[in-house]
Amino acid sequence: MSIRILSTSPLIGPHIEDLGKEFPELRIAPYRSVEWTEALPGAQALVVLLSEPLAEIDLKPCANLKVIGTYSVGTNHLPRDYCDARGIRIVSTPGVLTDATADLALTLLMALTRRVREGDALVRSGEWKGWAPDLLLGSGLAGKTCGILGSGPIGRAFARRVRAMGMEVIFWDRGGTRGAVDLGAETVRRLPLDDLLRSSYVLSLHCPLTDRTRGLLNREKLALLPEGAFIINTARGGIMDEKAAIELLHAGRIGGAGLDVYENEPDIDPGWCAAPRTVLLPHLGSATRETREEMARLLCDGIRNILKSSGA
Ligand code: DGY
Repeated sequence: MSIRILSTSPLIGPHIEDLGKEFPELRIAPYRSVEWTEALPGAQALVVLLSEPLAEIDLKPCANLKVIGTYSVGTNHLPRDYCDARGIRIVSTPGVLTDATADLALTLLMALTRRVREGDALVRSGEWKGWAPDLLLGSGLAGKTCGILGSGPIGRAFARRVRAMGMEVIFWDRGGTRGAVDLGAETVRRLPLDDLLRSSYVLSLHCPLTDRTRGLLNREKLALLPEGAFIINTARGGIMDEKAAIELLHAGRIGGAGLDVYENEPDIDPGWCAAPRTVLLPHLGSATRETREEMARLLCDGIRNILKSSGA
């Protein structure tokens, strides 16, 4: 029996199993295992994770491939142009992870500015001597400005959260500065990147990694941030020059960095662990059980529809 759907992973919840009942030629085999490599050329649908890049060369032998599903909203690990040219559809999981990712960005911001990591370590160390006026003073957020890169659903969901905490919000996005960003109850401005950076006490990244945004926050751009600014990244590591950010943290120019994503996950730059005032998470943006189940549902529905409509 030739494999029609080849997934690198069982997903959370019942959805991939249900898909397998409809398409019994579904196989789960680890990414780049012998079994996966042997089944690849015959597959009509592939399912991969965001940590499992596929290149044009991987797909060349796949004469029957109709669809690639990724268990993520980001598609930067897939060869989009090649797929478009060959009529291979890409299914990702937009919408259902918006709140989970915005929540995690807020978690990083709060943990960083209220020094949660250091407080937890102090209590556990047994060294805590009791309440003191100057113990682990953090930074308040109300009245300060939050610059957000990317005015898509996650950027806007994060904006609503920090607005509720009394922050001012400004946006930059790839589309330019025309038109205000609609947050539902109000609209807020888009600014050119340099203006946004100069004004951002908190900078939060919510844009996809594309040719346009790769390396967007280079050394010169990071240097525009006000002294002591905080950076939150739940988008993709490649958007920011990590070495430059680490240097600016050591120099005290950046007030702190809260990261969920890194350029070479999971082999992250060791400089991050040695840098002061950081909170580092292992790419947990969408990691709630409800969200991961919804992502699986969306992905499996998309694959089912494409295979059925293509008559495959
Ligand atoms: C995605 O799904 O692309 C996000 O990075 C999840 O955090």
